[in-house]
Amino acid sequence: MTPNNQQPAPTGPFSLPALAYPPAALEPHIDAQTMQIHHDKHHQTYITNLNNAVAKVYGPNSRVMSAEALLKNLERIPEDSRAAVRNNAGGHVNHTIFWTLMKPGGGGAPTGAIADAIKGTFGDFDKFKAAFEDAGLKRFGSGWVWLSVKKGKLELASYPYQDTPILEGGVPVLGNDVWEHAYYLKYQNKRADYLKAWWNVVNWDEVNNRLKMGR
Ligand SMILES: [Fe+2]
Repeated sequence: MTPNNQQPAPTGPFSLPALAYPPAALEPHIDAQTMQIHHDKHHQTYITNLNNAVAKVYGPNSRVMSAEALLKNLERIPEDSRAAVRNNAGGHVNHTIFWTLMKPGGGGAPTGAIADAIKGTFGDFDKFKAAFEDAGLKRFGSGWVWLSVKKGKLELASYPYQDTPILEGGVPVLGNDVWEHAYYLKYQNKRADYLKAWWNVVNWDEVNNRLKMGR
């Protein structure tokens, strides 16, 4: 307890995962400043708010279920905290996955099982890219476009705010953040240019890992 009888802000149980590459590593497609602010500030804010939200429900710095499990069990969260947990656990999980889906020197055509799965579901990679970019472009306001596995099948959809396929029992496989904070410094209002450039940093090995998790 602090002298004025207020609880200090909780510092856990959730914490910011480090990037596996320097923030400038995805240049020129994603600029270093965007990566820094996106990871260090935006992602951290979801974590801080998630820690505050779970402290309200379970007490400060409690050991609670994983952020994914919170999203799968939202009905267990009291109604007055549910939106905060949904938005901030979603923000934490979506971004944690997102950083791993990119790497310096990434991009190119998909390889391995995901290449076959994309071909089987969408016809070919170009058709899939067009559908993915279209979904990202049409998401009004802030949100995500996710390729996920649901009941063994690939599904492509966009989601508002920090919603995620996890809320619908899916496993996110490949997703792009279409909040303006993900691209505005470099691409301003040109979300379509960002969506196109982003293919140059996709980490297909990690997409294959996630596909395996979903099947
Ligand atoms: Fe973001």
